[in-house]
Amino acid sequence: MRTLLLHDDPADIRRAADLIQAGQLVAFPTETVYGLGANALDEDAVRSIFAAKGRPADNPLIVHISNIAMLANLAAELPDIALRLAQRFWPGPLTIVLPKHRSVPLVTSGGLQTVGIRMPAHPAARALIQRSGCPIAAPSANRSGKPSPTTAAHVMDDMKGRISAVLDGGICEGGVESTVICLDDAETIHLLRPGLISAEDLRPYAKQVYIDEAVYKQLAPDVKAASPGMKYKHYAPKAKILPVDAPDHAAFSDWVQAHAEKGCWCLLFDSDPEVPGVPSMRYGDDGKTQAHYLFLRFRELDAAGAKTVYVRMPGQTGAGLSVYNRLMRAAGFEVITV
Ligand code: TXA
Ligand code: MG
Repeated sequence: MRTLLLHDDPADIRRAADLIQAGQLVAFPTETVYGLGANALDEDAVRSIFAAKGRPADNPLIVHISNIAMLANLAAELPDIALRLAQRFWPGPLTIVLPKHRSVPLVTSGGLQTVGIRMPAHPAARALIQRSGCPIAAPSANRSGKPSPTTAAHVMDDMKGRISAVLDGGICEGGVESTVICLDDAETIHLLRPGLISAEDLRPYAKQVYIDEAVYKQLAPDVKAASPGMKYKHYAPKAKILPVDAPDHAAFSDWVQAHAEKGCWCLLFDSDPEVPGVPSMRYGDDGKTQAHYLFLRFRELDAAGAKTVYVRMPGQTGAGLSVYNRLMRAAGFEVITV
């Protein structure tokens, strides 16, 4: 299959929408990462998303909408709290898991009776949905297990020859995938996957925000994940990722120098000095910047031939929790503490 590279202009968005209507797969930009889209209500089209990614069939897809009215045919119920969150955070990087409407195929929801829905903020994404005239199911546009792509070139690296088109909307601002929540009751927001909309941002909208244990640690094999995606090892580059929890840069640097081998790199904060004798890349000082760069750096480290990467540990508050979670998952939740 030839994969077309389309541009973010009205004519190409029209072509992309025609492909979606015809049951084809089109990767498109969002404010978080690139998505691999198909008509969410077309079972065959959705099946081909799973095939193109090599994604397990029990890992549900997020359904993307371009206006709130589209919820009526996707969610069987819309609790007050969900409506308030949608009004405050959409369009934006918040996915809300709701009881699914019968019109949503079980293939899309990974066999669940719930469906994750979000309205992306990227104008090209919303234009594509609007022009396609249907909700668009889209996981991140990487091959299963790889870091999510934040540029059209990264989508091509993973998906060329497997999908009909990539709509190039430039580099994604956010860099990590959306915050995923469900509502345990009228007063509890359950954070399933952290993103740029943080637990702190959600707190004013509920009596409590409960952070799922899968955010912090590997679930035991016999535990049922509240969000199926969280049980899979994920986001991992080819290089071995080793987060180092050190009290400061000097302690980090000493430890890395003492353990450096051939092919070893470090991923530092912007404000860190170099680690003598060890090549490095940087990913920012604050959570938001680190989120923007993390997956980009993973792919660049692979391209540079890194074998092992010692990473300075991000914070765990605000947007930092999303960076911490992706890093931990790339590392299989193993941390070096010095
Ligand atoms: O930012 C994003 O969310 C990107 C862009 C393309 O929108 N999409 C994305 O999709 O990251 P994906 O498929 O890579 O991740 C979806 C996550 C998975 O962890 C999945 O298990 C969870 O959302 N999810 C989806 N529907 C769910 C549901 N009904 N119940 C629980 N978790 C759900
Ligand atoms: Mg993904």
